[in-house]
Amino acid sequence: MVISMLDSRGREINYMRVSVTDKCNLRCRYCMPDGVEIVPMSDLLTFEEITAVCRQASLLGIDRIKITGGEPLVRKGVVDLVAMIRALPGIRQITMTSNGVLLADYLPGLLEAGLNGINISLDSLDRDSYKSITGRDQLDRVLAGLEAALASGIRVKINSVLMKGTNDQEWSDLVDLARTRPLDIRFIEMMPIGSGKEYQGVSNEDLLGLMRCRFPDLREDHRVHGNGPAVYYQVPGWQGSIGLISPVHGKFCSGCNRIRMSAMGDLKPCLCYEAVANVRDLLRSQGEEAVGQILKQVIFDKPEAHCFSRLEDITEDKQMIAIGG
Ligand code: 5AD
Ligand code: SF4
Repeated sequence: MVISMLDSRGREINYMRVSVTDKCNLRCRYCMPDGVEIVPMSDLLTFEEITAVCRQASLLGIDRIKITGGEPLVRKGVVDLVAMIRALPGIRQITMTSNGVLLADYLPGLLEAGLNGINISLDSLDRDSYKSITGRDQLDRVLAGLEAALASGIRVKINSVLMKGTNDQEWSDLVDLARTRPLDIRFIEMMPIGSGKEYQGVSNEDLLGLMRCRFPDLREDHRVHGNGPAVYYQVPGWQGSIGLISPVHGKFCSGCNRIRMSAMGDLKPCLCYEAVANVRDLLRSQGEEAVGQILKQVIFDKPEAHCFSRLEDITEDKQMIAIGG
């Protein structure tokens, strides 16, 4: 059995987030404002190429893959990619982050392909507020996707980003999902990446204070919920849990287990720094073993921590849509 590779700081890297497109069918204000360049198809890795990179990653001990975008379900044939990656012997879990708009349509195929979990991005349960944040009147479709996913029994998580003056008052409606439905609702602090810099996020410490007041029996939930840095809480009797992901106000980099790859094959060992290598041309000219060598180097050299508290040090100026969250 392959043991996961350690980076130079001793962190075990076993998880890769793979973006398959930087297109999206929503235009969330903080993620994809007007003017985002859309990359030509020929610049994107093919499904065979993505699978080859995942195979090389699996030989280095990465056994969990998350498919992201933009919106992954707008990439034609993505269900086939899920099946291709799932079939790799070293991969034991494949999940996806989606805005949920097309989820009801693709869910049967995704389940058949072996998808192990779905994260749905949803910042509001109010139709007008959802439309104002995402630029599209699609809340009903997302909720239909959510219901279909819950009915299928696949593991469901909701990702919400709260913004002051926009949807911060909606936290309790979002939290209520965990009371009534078997899902985890996770609040991600707004990160100063791309247009996210223009919005004031809500600190999860403040949110925790509000939750403790409202739900006095809220307690930490120590069960393992996923691969990430969320800290989970539970209220006795509720069906699901509440996760807080605090990249800005809580430093979780010491436990970081992941690298990222963009749809063009850029490798990003840390969210807040620009890509350090590209595998697309290397793969096309030298084959997949050469990619394995690069992956090894990128993992080893992973930065110690992000630098969100020093905006001038952030070398990533792309929008989140091109990074995949
Ligand atoms: N800060 C925090 N989360 C973000 N996302 C997109 N942009 C940001 C940002 N600047 C989230 C989306 C989605 C996930 C893929 O990333 O809301 O849940
Ligand atoms: Fe890991 Fe970078 Fe995220 Fe920190 S900011 S948790 S190092 S990816």
